[in-house]
Amino acid sequence: MEKTILITGATDGIGLLTAQKLAALGHSLLLHGRNPEKLERVKSEIGGKFPDVKLSGYIADLSDLSAVGGMAEGINADHQRIDVLINNAGILKTPNVITKDGLDIRFVVNMLAPLYLTEALLPLIPLDGRILNLSSAAQNPVNIDALKGDVQLGRDMEAYAQSKLAITMWSRILGQQLENGPLVYSVNPGSLLGTNMVKGGFGIDGNDVNIGADILVNLSLDDHDAPSGSYFDNDAGSFGAPHPDALDNAKSVAVVTAVKDLVKRLTS
Ligand SMILES: NC(=O)c1ccc[n+]([C@@H]2O[C@H](COP(=O)([O-])OP(=O)(O)OC[C@H]3O[C@@H](n4cnc5c(N)ncnc54)[C@H](OP(=O)(O)O)[C@@H]3O)[C@@H](O)[C@H]2O)c1
Repeated sequence: MEKTILITGATDGIGLLTAQKLAALGHSLLLHGRNPEKLERVKSEIGGKFPDVKLSGYIADLSDLSAVGGMAEGINADHQRIDVLINNAGILKTPNVITKDGLDIRFVVNMLAPLYLTEALLPLIPLDGRILNLSSAAQNPVNIDALKGDVQLGRDMEAYAQSKLAITMWSRILGQQLENGPLVYSVNPGSLLGTNMVKGGFGIDGNDVNIGADILVNLSLDDHDAPSGSYFDNDAGSFGAPHPDALDNAKSVAVVTAVKDLVKRLTS
């Protein structure tokens, strides 16, 4: 059955390849990007190859929650149903790591924006729908002072790994809260896949990006028994245990509460 699938960060890397694969299967796509020309190019490439596929595009810089809110409004106005939301967009390295709101961009793009977008779109996602949140094998204990912008983290990878544990924690809590659906999974798509993030971050060619795109297609469409909130580790090729902090209710609630407070402060 044809599904309507929103992919953030669909202009490059794993998100772009996932979009191409889902279009080839005939699914309707909402493609998100931050760069209008790049998004237009991707839309016309996919549209040219798969003329019967319904495509729409949305622009938002996810480091700016007001832009995320604007995108969510646009999607809510244009669509009645989103079967699968793939919170794929992510950032590891960038010249300016502090946003205009004084926060580390990794926390904003990789954690705050997905939570805010998901909450805004939840009414459109049916109970048999799915939410996939991109995690990583890199997960480090979250420093809530750093999350709030009170402390700066020295290394790109440290901020990134903390943001990825945070989204894994939130995925588990959200999955437990949404007991009747939609299904929520966090996903490590596979490590060191050869995207801009990995080439720019580590100076290596990296592994086949299909590894990541194929698992996102699979988790979007195929049936799985794993309970909502589970973590899929594509390095192992199976659902598995995330960082122990993501299984610790008190730690997870503390991080998710801090994230929600920040989102509230930035959007009210
Ligand atoms: N590659 C890996 O080995 C690996 C491993 C574990 C997890 N992941 C996760 O997989 C996801 C996809 O990563 P990737 O490797 O495909 O990276 P990528 O090639 O760098 O693509 C990232 C996507 O996110 C978009 N993006 C980045 N910052 C943004 C912002 N401020 N606002 C809006 N969009 C933004 C990019 O837009 P532009 O096209 O404009 O740059 C691009 O579409 C990320 O969440 C990443 O953390 C990747």
